[in-house]
Amino acid sequence: MTEELEPELELPGPADTEALGERLAASLGPGDLVVLSGPLGAGKTVLVKGLARGLGVAGPVTSPTFVIAREHRPLPGSRGVPLVHVDAYRLGGAAELDDLDLDTDLGEAVVAVEWGEGVAERLSGRHLLVRLHRRPDDVRTATVHRVEEAR
Ligand SMILES: Nc1ncnc2c1ncn2[C@@H]1O[C@H](COP(=O)(O)OP(=O)(O)O)[C@@H](O)[C@H]1O
Ligand SMILES: [Mg+2]
Repeated sequence: MTEELEPELELPGPADTEALGERLAASLGPGDLVVLSGPLGAGKTVLVKGLARGLGVAGPVTSPTFVIAREHRPLPGSRGVPLVHVDAYRLGGAAELDDLDLDTDLGEAVVAVEWGEGVAERLSGRHLLVRLHRRPDDVRTATVHRVEEAR
């Protein structure tokens, strides 16, 4: 079951995409999975920066070249929820995703997976899907869905 949480949002600049991430973080807690889709340069990493800011976790959020998953620890005075940032672009498939033991991380953290659509769903029976688009005029838009496995 997929439910669109809000109408398509226009994101004129990176600050707007980061603000969306920050706003979404307010409703996220341990066990929540965020799957990010969209082409290269759409703003997936920028949105994760916003999640990190909203949760109050340490460390710069970057597009890791060699690291597939990075854990950001909560800063003192924050809500105390870690963020695990995964870039699945170079993952060979589901078996390699399983090797990351993200289900263990999900017990205590928010897990955000770039390029995760089609593979990260196996980590949880429900997730938040953020689809980022890049229009021909270069304006970014986003749709946010709550996806739940039919049972
Ligand atoms: N509205 C926008 N939202 C997000 N990024 C934008 C936007 N407009 C321009 N940009 C730029 O596009 C790039 C997006 O990069 P990034 O978040 O790493 O993309 P992705 O992770 O989807 O490949 C950044 O350089 C950012 O400054
Ligand atoms: Mg990225």
